[in-house]
Amino acid sequence: MKREELTAKFEELFGAGGDIRAYYAPGRVNLIGEHTDYNGGHVFPCALTIGTYMIARKREDRKLRFYSMNFEKLGVAESSLDELEPQKHKLWIQYPEGVIWTFGKKGYPVEQGFDILLYGNIPNGSGLSSSASVELVTGVMLRDMLGFDTLTNIDLSLFGQYSENHYNGVNCGIMDQFAIGMGKKDHAIFLDTSSLDYRYVPVKLEGARIVIACSNKKRGLADSKYNERRSECESALAELQKVKKIASLGDLTEEEFEELQGAISNPIWRKRAKHAVYENQRTIQACRCLEKNDIETFGTLMNASHVSLRDDYEVTGIELDTLAEAAWNCRGVIGSRMTGAGFGGCTVSIVKTEEIENFIEEVGRIYEEKIGYKADFYVVDIGDGAGVLAE
Ligand code: GLA
Repeated sequence: MKREELTAKFEELFGAGGDIRAYYAPGRVNLIGEHTDYNGGHVFPCALTIGTYMIARKREDRKLRFYSMNFEKLGVAESSLDELEPQKHKLWIQYPEGVIWTFGKKGYPVEQGFDILLYGNIPNGSGLSSSASVELVTGVMLRDMLGFDTLTNIDLSLFGQYSENHYNGVNCGIMDQFAIGMGKKDHAIFLDTSSLDYRYVPVKLEGARIVIACSNKKRGLADSKYNERRSECESALAELQKVKKIASLGDLTEEEFEELQGAISNPIWRKRAKHAVYENQRTIQACRCLEKNDIETFGTLMNASHVSLRDDYEVTGIELDTLAEAAWNCRGVIGSRMTGAGFGGCTVSIVKTEEIENFIEEVGRIYEEKIGYKADFYVVDIGDGAGVLAE
């Protein structure tokens, strides 16, 4: 969809004239480092070249009017700066609303309403962070429109996370918002979530590409299960802290964990903590592999990550397991694993370019046979982070 088409739709809905501006925020895929970001560990995501577009204009009053070209049947949704209240409703507008509310909470008051049109080409509910993308596009819009120029993209990422935690009630970590705010074309971001130190690593896949397989499973209770995993890790950490001075599970090496794990009384919490510790170490190693162009070992670590998410963290489910296992058996696959929160969503695979067609056919066939409906496949590129949309 072109900018002119979006602007034309905006003008048709909200009228022409005034200072109409355009913004963009990508989706993200995490290469490795899953469920480590709220455990003080490392993650290794990248921004995609698909994302969310926003056209916006300030209003004179305090009304907020939203329209999504992805939910045309819903029409224009209206709310107001005086009606922002956490978890009041479950409509999609809770994401932009939450960020507007967060700006106020953080000392950047929003005193005037907006007319807002959104269009996204991230498949909905795919696990590629369409909601964090909406949060960041709202953040860059507010910064630009209201002249809050001192706010960095890292600040906006933190605002997005705050909004998700406190307005939308999902206790997520910082990975999605950070990847979307700070993404860089053809690079992955190696981020230490305990300090927010990060570095960009070029993703040179030498004859291979990143392929996303979307399970199309309805995500249902995903948010509550996500919060449950997080509190299981917190319980494990509290018990470990009685025997060792650590700030997070990310502070432990595998050896230290093996030595101390007896301090965790509940076997389920022990498994969750084991995943968090081992996955963090795998992520550190995977980053080094990519820096050395050792893609083969990188792929092996991706596979091990899936197994750990399946067996110890228990967030995969039959759909993601079927996709990953079918991929492992496919020609030209360097590595494959679930990505994002799990409980549905998608897998990320690195596949040799000449085998991609066969991969999509094979994995697609096996998935449909076993699960009863189709998976969708996307060959993706790594793009830049959120910002003003260039003319
Ligand atoms: C979701 C959350 C992230 C992260 C992943 C799992 O995407 O939003 O913060 O915890 O799940 O790695």
